[in-house]
Amino acid sequence: MKTLTVDLGDRSYPIFIGQDLLAQKQLVTPYVKAKQVMIVTNETIAPLYLEKTLALFSDFQAEQVILPDGEEYKNLTILNTIFDELLTQRCDRQVTLVALGGGVIGDMTGFAAACYQRGVPFIQIPTTLLSQVDSSVGGKTGVNHPQGKNMIGAFHQPQCVLIDTDTLNTLEPRQLSAGLAEVVKYGLINDVAFFEWLEQNTERLLNLEPEAIAYAVERSCADKANVVAQDEKEKGMRALLNLGHTFGHTIEAGMGYGQVLHGEAVAIGMVLAAKMSHSLGWVNSECVERTEAILQAMHLPTKIPQGVTPDQMLELMQVDKKVQAGKIRLILMKGIGQSLVVDDYPADILKQTLENGF
Ligand code: NAD
Ligand code: GLY
Repeated sequence: MKTLTVDLGDRSYPIFIGQDLLAQKQLVTPYVKAKQVMIVTNETIAPLYLEKTLALFSDFQAEQVILPDGEEYKNLTILNTIFDELLTQRCDRQVTLVALGGGVIGDMTGFAAACYQRGVPFIQIPTTLLSQVDSSVGGKTGVNHPQGKNMIGAFHQPQCVLIDTDTLNTLEPRQLSAGLAEVVKYGLINDVAFFEWLEQNTERLLNLEPEAIAYAVERSCADKANVVAQDEKEKGMRALLNLGHTFGHTIEAGMGYGQVLHGEAVAIGMVLAAKMSHSLGWVNSECVERTEAILQAMHLPTKIPQGVTPDQMLELMQVDKKVQAGKIRLILMKGIGQSLVVDDYPADILKQTLENGF
């Protein structure tokens, strides 16, 4: 097992990464404040891992709430079912919420923990690759609004993150690939050595070879923890973690949540970022080709799907959280491993990038 730390002073917390960690109750027990625990999961994950998770918290009074499965349920209405259950079970301010699932469950549970009685602790147990390498770390929580992705939310850090990589064995291949998009993101942002390793180890990752998966999860979490420790509330460099996301969010919202997976949308968005950087003369065509090639090798889409238009995407970009004074800020590239935040670029280049992105 590997333990990493997200270094946030007195709110620092560990990330435990390894196999069979769902059986290691001594890891989580110190992070539960009092007797009550509320496990939040969904109808797909519950039959697979709820029993093990109940055993993990068998020293406590563990309640459960099972949500419907899907990005389209990541909204305020479904969030309310968590509050209903917390109140029905008379949970007090000492209750610890446990997010058992992918990024949707993690984001919703974290947000419920941020709001319930003005804030209670929570633990992340991410079960998709995407949530293990990204969403469970860093304290961004929230839900979608029909007009924009993750528009309602809060920063609320977990007490600890327990990553049992064995849970990936039940994941659909399409979901594994979606998680790999966020792994590639770290290479493209500022870790060229990791990007090269990923190019050479794609097959091992797709085959879920334990050593390769452990390395990819550890390196991704370490890269993310490093950024979060320096810029928890996204005043500056944390925005880099959104490479591909401004484009991607407009595809997710434009197509209707749940149609294109978040990781798939990010993959398309990273290719658009590389292509726009090329149009601006900042990267050569090899950089664009390598970005496309690694994502295609991971069975990810790299083109905007039919069903959303460039004009629709531009309109949706206006409600992105990175918009400041009406300017759409984008994360673009000066090379593999050299991403940067940009808010000054010719508007016609953005439009052309979208028009040529199909
Ligand atoms: P997801 O949570 O929808 O999970 C994908 C699917 O896999 C679901 O059907 C789920 O039920 C199923 N599943 C989960 N674990 C499984 C397992 N072990 N075996 C079999 N099936 C399993 O999607 P995701 O890709 O994990 O997360 C995407 C969400 O994360 C988006 O809402 C996105 O906005 C959010 N996100 C948040 C952050 C952040 O920093 N908070 C970062 C990136 C993404
Ligand atoms: N996934 C973006 C962030 O955590 O900041």
